[in-house]
Amino acid sequence: MLDAGKVDMAMTDALIVAAGSGERFGDQPKQFVLLNGRPMIAWVVERFSRQKGIDRITLVVPAGSKDRFEQVIEQHGLEKVEGLIAGGETRQESVRLGLEGLAPDSDAILVHDGARPCPTSALIGRILETLRHKNAVIPTIPAVDTLIREASAEVGEVVDRTGISAVQTPQGFRTELLRRAHQSAIEKGIRSSDDGSLILAMGEIVTTVPGERTNIKVTFEDDVAMAEAILARDD
Ligand code: C5P
Repeated sequence: MLDAGKVDMAMTDALIVAAGSGERFGDQPKQFVLLNGRPMIAWVVERFSRQKGIDRITLVVPAGSKDRFEQVIEQHGLEKVEGLIAGGETRQESVRLGLEGLAPDSDAILVHDGARPCPTSALIGRILETLRHKNAVIPTIPAVDTLIREASAEVGEVVDRTGISAVQTPQGFRTELLRRAHQSAIEKGIRSSDDGSLILAMGEIVTTVPGERTNIKVTFEDDVAMAEAILARDD
């Protein structure tokens, strides 16, 4: 295990993965859907570019769409974006490709979903602060609904929700640890929808901090109105 207390956080990157096809979203690319008049990806990037403690931003985008992303970055005067990298077939592959494209001097990294436009500065700050003395940090929110496992449209079993939480992004890591986790996942054939799980799969400790109910992932078209309301309140 790394000795977290002794690792420098001199260079901290944000890696925003936005290379999904948004199949659950309708026919327009969801990265550019307008939220209160600005493309979603502009809201996301701005959250990190104005965050103290984030030095550089790398965006992972669908192959062939770099120009459109560059335009948005320029139009909205977004700072700190140093790299645009073509993503892969899965989120995991997109993160791995992003990591390969990062500058080698990266000490710490926050990986964030391009589909989550509403993390507050307080949440990003909480991840950064915890990462000063921990190796891997993820935000979670406790499950509030009753959870069941369904078996062909009938209730199979009720899942005891004690201690069950939903996992969000941004997730923070020592960059070297996350690189190792992705390499190990390839070697062992492990697939996961988030990065914290890959760290856990290596037997390393992942620390949780409180997430935010408003840090929604825009997945379906009716999430747009909710994201707009949250952003109007925050700004
Ligand atoms: O599909 P899901 O909702 O889990 O996607 C979470 C984030 O991962 C989204 O921001 C999406 O753009 C990104 N992603 C990616 N490359 C993929 C699939 C998803 O960057 N191949």
